[in-house]
Amino acid sequence: MSVSPHPQRPVEDSSSGKMPKHVAFIMDGNGRWATARGLPRTEGHRQGLETLRSIIRHAGKVGVEIITIYSFSSENWNRPATEVSFLMGLLKRFVQRDLSELHEANVRIRIIGGRSDLDPGILSLLEEAEELTRRNSGLELVVAFNYGSRAEILRAAQHLAQRVQDGDIRLEEITEEAFSQSLDTGGLPDPDLIIRTSGELRLSNFLLWQAAYSEFYFCDLNWPDFDEAAFDEALSCFGNRQRRYGGLDAKAL
Ligand code: FPP
Repeated sequence: MSVSPHPQRPVEDSSSGKMPKHVAFIMDGNGRWATARGLPRTEGHRQGLETLRSIIRHAGKVGVEIITIYSFSSENWNRPATEVSFLMGLLKRFVQRDLSELHEANVRIRIIGGRSDLDPGILSLLEEAEELTRRNSGLELVVAFNYGSRAEILRAAQHLAQRVQDGDIRLEEITEEAFSQSLDTGGLPDPDLIIRTSGELRLSNFLLWQAAYSEFYFCDLNWPDFDEAAFDEALSCFGNRQRRYGGLDAKAL
């Protein structure tokens, strides 16, 4: 795959006023895509990886700066063992096959999600991807793997409570900012836009804290069918949204 190392700045036209800096994806519908074609569900995941490659390329081209993908949730371990093992294999192939190209394209990879209970082989692969690309300055690709938002929030709360107990910080220093910094996403801006494919209308334990002021975009396409044109449509829809963060439009003041 090829990603532009020097993204063009967002195209400003009448249909897209603003470009989101950070877009997060719930890549849903792989199984249904495959079943509808009489294929095993794993084929849907394989095709889903192709879609992911094209979406990363496109994000780099249009000037989105960060994309977060929900690649495997902490609840996905409950799927049949064959499907879980296929998804692990796909992740390994993605890292092994695409890492050098992503690195050349100046993409920085960051992993979010629980690490303590991960298979050491997978963990070292993910850490290698982070380490190799740590100093890159292009598109940031945040991979949510073994990720569950409630568990992430709990980890942050425990971390801060421990610091209070140890006398490192005072209780009053647990601010929204300090809490955000203690999440796996610490240091990243919140997602401006969250896209979920396949017609499901829920967050499924994804970025619950970070999504406080995100715009949502739901589309009926299954993830393997979500192409560049569908992405452009989502971006253009975002460009027409009025974000008020609980305040009022400038016009209304
Ligand atoms: C949801 O579709 C998708 C997943 C649980 C896995 C997402 C994985 C990919 C897109 C593969 C590429 C990514 C990496 C990095 C390995 P579903 O299986 O829940 O579909 P369904 O709701 O139709 O059953």
